[in-house]
Order: sequence, then C-alpha cells, then structure tokens
Amino acid sequence: MKSQRIEIAPSILSADFSNMRAAVAEVEESGARFLHLDVMDGVFVPQITFGPKLVKDLRPHSDLVFDAHLMVVEPERHIPAFVDAGCDYITIHQESCIHLNRALNMIRDKGVKCGISIVPSTPVSAIRPLLDLVDLVLVMTVNPGYGGQRLIQSCMDKVVELCEIRQSEDYSYLVSVDGGVNLDTIQDVVAAGADVAVTGSAFFGEVDKALFMERMLALAEESFH
Ligand code: DX5
Ligand code: ZN
Repeated sequence: MKSQRIEIAPSILSADFSNMRAAVAEVEESGARFLHLDVMDGVFVPQITFGPKLVKDLRPHSDLVFDAHLMVVEPERHIPAFVDAGCDYITIHQESCIHLNRALNMIRDKGVKCGISIVPSTPVSAIRPLLDLVDLVLVMTVNPGYGGQRLIQSCMDKVVELCEIRQSEDYSYLVSVDGGVNLDTIQDVVAAGADVAVTGSAFFGEVDKALFMERMLALAEESFH
C-alpha cells in the first residue's frame, strides 16, 4: 500500500489556447499541484503547440509545479530556454535524442529536475542505464501527438517494471503516466504504481474541474488499498 497521494497533472494541451492564463488558474483552483506542459514541434510529433515564451509568461501567475514534456527533436537545443522559463521538471524523449546522458545532465546542472519519456513502442530496457540519473520517467500510454486518445493497456506493464526497478535499485524517480487517463482508467494507473497521472481532455472536458479532481483522487484512494 502506498501512503502518498497520486499527483493528477492536468495538461493544457486540451485548454483553450486563446486564454492560457485562465486555463492555468482553473488548474490551480481545481486543487491540482502539477501543470503538464506539452511542447510539440511538428517534427517529432505532427502537431505544433507552444514554446518557452508561453511557459515563461505563465510562470509568474502560478505556483503549480511546471512539468514540461518536450516532444521535439534535438531537445538539447531548447533546454536552456525552458530552464530560463522556470520549468520545475523538463522531460525529454529517449527517441528524440542521441546524447541522452548529456542532455539530461544539461537539465540537472541547472538545478531543474530531469525526466525521460518513452513512446509505446520503446521498452524500459532502452532507458535502463539512465534510471539512476533521472527524477521522473514518463510512460506514454498513447502515441504522442494528440489529446483524447485511448490508453494502450499493454504500456501499463512498463509502469510496473519501472516501479520494480526503482525498488530493487533504491532509485527515487517518479513514474508518470501520460495518455488516455480519465475516470475509467485512473484506478489501473494507480494500481500499476504510478506517482503522477497526466490528464488532458478528461480534465478540460469537465465543467466542474474541482469535482473531477475529487473524483479522480477518491478513485485513486480506493486503488491504494
Ligand atoms: C499527448 C500528450 C499528453 C496529452 C494527454 O501527446 O503528451 O500529455 O495531453 O491528453 P489526454 O489526457 O487527452 O490523453
Ligand atoms: Zn504529455
């Protein structure tokens, strides 16, 4: 049994981009503590979302933990700007970068928490040598690029595997699950051992976001026992 509550991290990918400041306020008022920022470059994934300027402009308006998920090629080119923007976590993809160790250390050396993410087709073994270095592992449970997709159940085995490795090696990274997390899937996510659950379309599709958070946390609590 886990004692700590899961962090529900709303993703502003599903927010109204014409009013991001209000969207971040809604996340904060819902009781969430994490804000997931999906950065897409139109190359690593088909869509383009936003860059560090938006993150920097939002930063003074929120005390949320800024959890940036960089779905971009050559992330090392952009790391300094996201550090400067005030991110608390910067997560890069295993599939996007050759010199992963160097890129992760670029983040760490600036005092920012570093994360590594894997798409559904990438096994945990691809990041095994980096697990002693990272603060967060982001398991994609959909193919990245769009909100509103269905969670790919087979990816949940990787969450379990990462929790087992963490325990056996005494590592301390958070395991985050991203893609298709909603009221129907949160209990599986918690049962697998995740610490953070990203939710985009489910959160922003609700009118009463505080109630949604309450329901998610209540379902999570049931799964802990
Ligand atoms: C997808 C993004 C996710 C996305 C999740 O590429 O990385 O963070 O916002 O959206 P939902 O919760 O709608 O699957
Ligand atoms: Zn994401």
